[in-house]
Amino acid sequence: MAQASTALERRYGDTQRTDRWWLEPLLVGSGLLIFVVYSTVSGVLGEYWAFETEHGLYLSPFFEPLIHPEFLPDWFSPAILILWAPIGFRTTCYYYRRAYYRAYFLSPPACAVREPAGSYSGEGVFPFVLQNAHRWFMYVALLFIPILWNGAIRSFWLDGEGIGIGLGSVLLTVNAALLTMYTIGCHSLRHWVAGGLNQFSRTPLRRLRRRLWEIFTIANEHHRLWAWTSLIIVGVTDLYVHLVASEVVTDPNTWSGPI
Ligand code: FES
Repeated sequence: MAQASTALERRYGDTQRTDRWWLEPLLVGSGLLIFVVYSTVSGVLGEYWAFETEHGLYLSPFFEPLIHPEFLPDWFSPAILILWAPIGFRTTCYYYRRAYYRAYFLSPPACAVREPAGSYSGEGVFPFVLQNAHRWFMYVALLFIPILWNGAIRSFWLDGEGIGIGLGSVLLTVNAALLTMYTIGCHSLRHWVAGGLNQFSRTPLRRLRRRLWEIFTIANEHHRLWAWTSLIIVGVTDLYVHLVASEVVTDPNTWSGPI
């Protein structure tokens, strides 16, 4: 009897929770799946990723910075040269790991809900050991902050007409701002600037490092918020640039030119 009761307790999904604990992993799993499918289709198969001028008045963030060497065939999307960095950064992010471990591996599906795995191997075995590359992706992600801001600032200028503003400029600016908040809220970045120190008062550049740590901590406290808002906006911005460039929608703006 006691054995039967133990077996019952260990059954996957057992919980005493009465709330809708399954809702969060369901929404998270669906949201991530939609983004992965959309970004793959848009980045790899899409054509309309820039609009106006040589590098695009509006250039989709999936393609920023635009790299398309002449030796590459026409069918090769420039996004492939860019997307590996943000994808690697996000898939190894501590928040996203929690999110997709719960949503896809059900490990565990939620707090206080029995998981299917009988043992825990952590992230010390392949392929999960690759998650430790997060810090390296973080270094690359830092380079994208000025690159995306450059693209956003460029979107306020139309050759022949000068400074102006359009809905695309606003989206690209919001996208750069949210990506900045997500990146500077990274746990690895916070640790990099001021973690692992035995005696802060004897640390070189301690004032600067402490100031940066305080700023990064503000962003870090809402890392999940920045993770989702930046993910949604980068997708929306890419879609918007596609729609404007393919002339499905007209960009409302202050220029009188061809837009
Ligand atoms: S922990 Fe999320 S981006 Fe580094």
